[in-house]
Amino acid sequence: MTYVVTDNCIRCKYMDCVAVCPVNCFYEGEHMLVIHPDECIDCGVCEPECPADAIRADTVEGMAPWIELNARMAPLLPNIDTPGEPPADRESWLGMPDKLTKVYGGPQPERI
Ligand code: SF4
Ligand code: F3S
Repeated sequence: MTYVVTDNCIRCKYMDCVAVCPVNCFYEGEHMLVIHPDECIDCGVCEPECPADAIRADTVEGMAPWIELNARMAPLLPNIDTPGEPPADRESWLGMPDKLTKVYGGPQPERI
């Protein structure tokens, strides 16, 4: 089991999760973060800290696409261990449905 970052993170990118992760297993794309599945220790601390409600356990129904995306992107991206500045327009993206398609154009983007 691991935790995964999902659609709600896209263009919200609050980064409160980064501040609480005890093992620094978040990786940063331009518009969202992902969790490295081999590094996450399943502590669950980050899940309630996300203001966008973007983090889920991979055991939750429907997580398969996010498990794939987190696992595929994490090794390609830089590690982030200190929260940066979130996007100025993050609130306008909060809770918007299907951001994966709106921002990246499809379910399996090459870059995030
Ligand atoms: Fe980090 Fe724990 Fe969240 Fe995994 S579940 S990403 S170890 S805070
Ligand atoms: Fe994204 Fe939530 Fe972290 S919006 S950057 S998963 S605090």
